[in-house]
Amino acid sequence: MSALLRALTRALPRHPLRPVSAATTTSAARTISGTSRAEGHVAGLGTTVELNNGVAMPRMGLGTWQAEPGAVGAAVTAALAAGYRHIDCASVYGNEGEVGLALAAAIADGVVTRDDVFVTSKLWCTSHGTDNVAPALERSLERLGLDHLDLYLIHVPVALRKRAPEDGGNEASVEIVHIPLAETWAGMESVLAAGLTRAIGVSNMPTLTLNDLLGSASVIPAVNQIERHPYLPQTEHASWAAEHGIQIIAYSPLGNASLDAHAAPGAPPPLLEHPVVADVAAAVGATRAQVLLAWNLAQGSSVIPKSVSPARIVENAASIDLQLPADALEALNALDCGRRYLDFAWTGFSLFK
Ligand SMILES: NC(=O)c1ccc[n+]([C@@H]2O[C@H](COP(=O)([O-])OP(=O)(O)OC[C@H]3O[C@@H](n4cnc5c(N)ncnc54)[C@H](OP(=O)(O)O)[C@@H]3O)[C@@H](O)[C@H]2O)c1
Repeated sequence: MSALLRALTRALPRHPLRPVSAATTTSAARTISGTSRAEGHVAGLGTTVELNNGVAMPRMGLGTWQAEPGAVGAAVTAALAAGYRHIDCASVYGNEGEVGLALAAAIADGVVTRDDVFVTSKLWCTSHGTDNVAPALERSLERLGLDHLDLYLIHVPVALRKRAPEDGGNEASVEIVHIPLAETWAGMESVLAAGLTRAIGVSNMPTLTLNDLLGSASVIPAVNQIERHPYLPQTEHASWAAEHGIQIIAYSPLGNASLDAHAAPGAPPPLLEHPVVADVAAAVGATRAQVLLAWNLAQGSSVIPKSVSPARIVENAASIDLQLPADALEALNALDCGRRYLDFAWTGFSLFK
């Protein structure tokens, strides 16, 4: 244990916070604001941030990447029952159809109305270009069974084209094409104007690229969805984004427990296993995942942890009410080592270098 953590652990009272898993979740069905709520419902999940166009976005959402078909629908059902009102999707995740069925069932069962839920999807790299945006968004809407999204993001600022079989291409092979980002953004502005989505934004966009885009944009992106956790706090970018009215959504907030990248030579331990995270969790009487999510929320991010486990979905949600003391935040800040798990090097670009 580091000297800092030893000092921190000594300084903290044993349970300085409300015990998050008990006090912020209901232990049995009860009434909150006149509505009957199921067991495990986390009231704080209604907390929103106002985007730069006035749309309210719940600060915590459910991630759906790597949530396998057959599991993702149940995860969405569990999340909505727990009080999540924000679901993060993407066409490339290959599971929007099942997410849509779960949403439709929750609406039919009276768990939520369409307007209660904030649904995000993302434009994949093979659909860049002004005229490709609306058809790609409409395909997502069809799979999700919705008539509009709440947020649509350019997933990665790299335009790709599937390589034709006659050029030696197979199902998976792609090549880089030269489509200016401003042209794709013009398509994003059109789908916003057409009411197909309530807000538009970007993802994986470095400061320089985003700054460049602002030069030609009529609509300032509402969001940049980026990898963010104590190993990669991206503080400078987040401050710059805040100055420009761009909200950060933190992806892989738990360090994506399943990535092979954790096993790379010289890699730090998976975030959830870092002794500092474990010690802070013990000191504040929360779980490691809750500590990591609370750290991100304290930075001003919105967070979208992925889980297909109903128990973890509720556990993660409870972090919305967890406020870490300053010395715990400081100890977690000290984990910054620039460790990025998703660099998109497979696109052929070193996006972040
Ligand atoms: N814009 C982008 O390019 C981009 C990139 C990556 C991710 N995202 C979005 O961000 C979401 C979250 O990021 P992510 O999926 O990379 O990683 P993450 O949320 O950091 O981690 C997910 C992993 O943590 C496990 N987990 C969840 N809750 C846990 C808990 N309480 N205790 C221990 N383990 C727990 C999950 O397993 P179980 O499911 O088994 O619980 C899963 O293996 C994605 O699902 C996606 O929606 C966007």
